[in-house]
Amino acid sequence: MKIPEVKKVPHRLGLLIASPKAYARQKSLLAGLQWLRANQPLGRVETRDFDPFWLVTRHADVSWIIRQHDLFHNGDRAHSLVPRSSDEMTRALTGGSPHPIRTLVHMDEPDHLKYRRITQYWFTPQRVGLLEHSIRIIARASIDRMAKLGPACDFVRDVAIHYPLRVLMQILGVPEQDAPRMLKLTQELFASEDIDLGHGESGSGDPARHARELFRLLGEFQAYFVPLMERRRASPAQDLASVIANAEVDGKPINHFEAVSYYVIVAAAGHDTTSSSISGGLWALCENEDAFKKLKADAGLIPRFVEEAIRWTTPVHHVMRTATADVELGEQTIVRGDWLMLSLLSANRDEEVFDQPNRFRLDRDASGGVLFGQGVHTCLGQHLARLEIRIFFEELLSRLESVEIAGRPRRSASIFIGGPKTLPLRYRMR
Ligand code: HEM
Repeated sequence: MKIPEVKKVPHRLGLLIASPKAYARQKSLLAGLQWLRANQPLGRVETRDFDPFWLVTRHADVSWIIRQHDLFHNGDRAHSLVPRSSDEMTRALTGGSPHPIRTLVHMDEPDHLKYRRITQYWFTPQRVGLLEHSIRIIARASIDRMAKLGPACDFVRDVAIHYPLRVLMQILGVPEQDAPRMLKLTQELFASEDIDLGHGESGSGDPARHARELFRLLGEFQAYFVPLMERRRASPAQDLASVIANAEVDGKPINHFEAVSYYVIVAAAGHDTTSSSISGGLWALCENEDAFKKLKADAGLIPRFVEEAIRWTTPVHHVMRTATADVELGEQTIVRGDWLMLSLLSANRDEEVFDQPNRFRLDRDASGGVLFGQGVHTCLGQHLARLEIRIFFEELLSRLESVEIAGRPRRSASIFIGGPKTLPLRYRMR
């Protein structure tokens, strides 16, 4: 059999894909991804600081691979792109595992389903729907705060980052007075990635520091969540913290490590993603007066707007998978053990699926994007996220009369999860 020559992604593009700063600026990154979709939709990235990985940029390929959970594992190697030295440090600190914590996204079958079942019911549309009233109260409080700060605020810092966290804290059953501590921990979780992935060929700094910093932070999460878990074991309440604390897998109580990991993913996965989509959506409305007017006139358009806001922002930029067997794909041979980056950012801007993908359009159905992943790992919190974003904009648009950007918005410099970091606004509200 003739083994086809491995197609390499041009070095300059490989560096761009692995550079946090490129995700902050986006323009050249999006142009690079567009070029790859057209010319080299599956290519190998080889740079000095990262283990080689395949870069998958087309929607069809991302969507196919992400649904083959037996052929492409989440847990065998790191689930997000990390530099080699960071990976080595993580393995040294964990005694061999590539993951500093063990959550649903780091598991494969059969464990994954067993752990997902623990909380699945809490995130069904029916169960989440019961929260509509309490979420609306939290949304109104956020918007009151924005009105008070008017006529200007930094929407991300002052409004968006607080709202989803409050919702998650209520579901988990974390007391309201602990909000500042939770906010600091979840913000640092992603900020550490921001700063420390900027290194070597694609930036500067010490990538192994990222792993050490992550472990320090996870120690802080543990210091907070272990006593909470023990309280809920001693005296269960009607909250998710109690469900996790008292869960059993294979007839045995889940251990501290997996329980804390569960708390961390619920608090962290639903926080920056949702607040980024809200900020990204409002940023787009500032630049699309027509869409702003239409939405204000017809709240029935908001669910469609929510999908487009998530597509437009794509806060989860990529996920990594590891091949469990040799696979032929696009005239390339992916070998067992190979690492693949599925670029959601690219899939959600694929011109084969979205007309004028770089434009924010209220008249499109963006739900065909890979917004929340697909397959067995599809986002557990997708119904909650949609509900939160819809309620937020229903409440906001009923009071917001005008809004414009009043400074330079910036995105976070993050390869993995990111979005608007600052969004200075000037506005009028009722
Ligand atoms: C707009 C907001 C959100 C976006 C764009 C988003 C995106 C994603 C994506 C792309 C994945 C798949 C990861 C993979 O395949 O490896 C995922 C998984 C996950 N998300 Fe979300 N998410 C959002 C909100 C939330 C919320 C509110 C929660 C609430 C707890 C949440 C919890 C989770 C969990 C637990 C997983 C892992 C599921 C599994 O592996 O079985 N997410 N999310």
